[in-house]
Amino acid sequence: SDGGGDAAADGGGSDDTITMGFAQVGAESGWRTANTKNIQEAAAEAGVDLKFSDAQQKQENQIKAIRSYIQQKVDVIAFSPVVETGWDAVLQEAKRANIPVILTDRAVDSEDTSLYKTFLGSDFVEEGKKAGQWLVDNAADADVDGDGDINVVELQGTTGAAPAIDRKEGFEEVIAANGEISISQSQTGDFTRDGGKQVMEAFLQSEDDIDVVFAHNDDMGLGAIEAIEAAGLVPGEDVKIITIDAVKDGMTALSEGKINFIVECSPLLGPQLMDLAEKVLAGEEVPTRVVTEETTFTPEQAAEVLAERQY
Ligand code: AHR
Repeated sequence: SDGGGDAAADGGGSDDTITMGFAQVGAESGWRTANTKNIQEAAAEAGVDLKFSDAQQKQENQIKAIRSYIQQKVDVIAFSPVVETGWDAVLQEAKRANIPVILTDRAVDSEDTSLYKTFLGSDFVEEGKKAGQWLVDNAADADVDGDGDINVVELQGTTGAAPAIDRKEGFEEVIAANGEISISQSQTGDFTRDGGKQVMEAFLQSEDDIDVVFAHNDDMGLGAIEAIEAAGLVPGEDVKIITIDAVKDGMTALSEGKINFIVECSPLLGPQLMDLAEKVLAGEEVPTRVVTEETTFTPEQAAEVLAERQY
């Protein structure tokens, strides 16, 4: 069923309405929820018939969803790949069916760039660099125990996901400038609050001189806060916390001083995605890469913008 009450749209491509199949990663974080909402609202606004699926962070589910969109002959497929590798076969199928593909938020690691029209989303390496730069600039404060070493633990995103790979790379590149900063432990918390909490509990049990947490997203940082408080420590003071995203819960914790610095990653990709889809289907040239504009926030800056934060 097309769910929209317009029987003529079944099968897609049969009238002027654009039918888009969107294969979402899941609902792992506040960021993802905001991203889904924004894409659904932008589709409604643009009059795009959106077929939406949630892969629950599993690549096999995303591949199944894309195959079903190919079978339904949608006009365009957009997706945010849960991991970087392993997409060539299904993207070849879409190409053979003449259905253009737009990568949204996360990239694929494929040699054949003809498998997709464009990639809309953040520069994750840059985000990692901004996080690392804050630490380099605030190194004296971040040496919480004053032992001359800044001991960082890292909560990584989903293993194999572009934002986990790239944020780690950018962060490591920048902190190398300061010989006192090093990462003692690094593990995946799968971009979830619960994952961040569990990994942080284990980190705290295995060493007692952690100065800094670098969490690849707000949700894992918020989970780490719970673990730090449960261990009788004060987040933001006894352990400094740097995260990425700037969703409302993260910004609230930042404004309260429980997080020390957040690098923004914007989930509001919907309007640009609809625009790109319309252009691709009209045969217009689109840039092969569209980078999202983003900023960073200190506790003071978070307090200023919190009230009007949309997500
Ligand atoms: O791909 C973007 C990342 O995925 C966000 O930073 C994270 O919160 C989400 O789960």
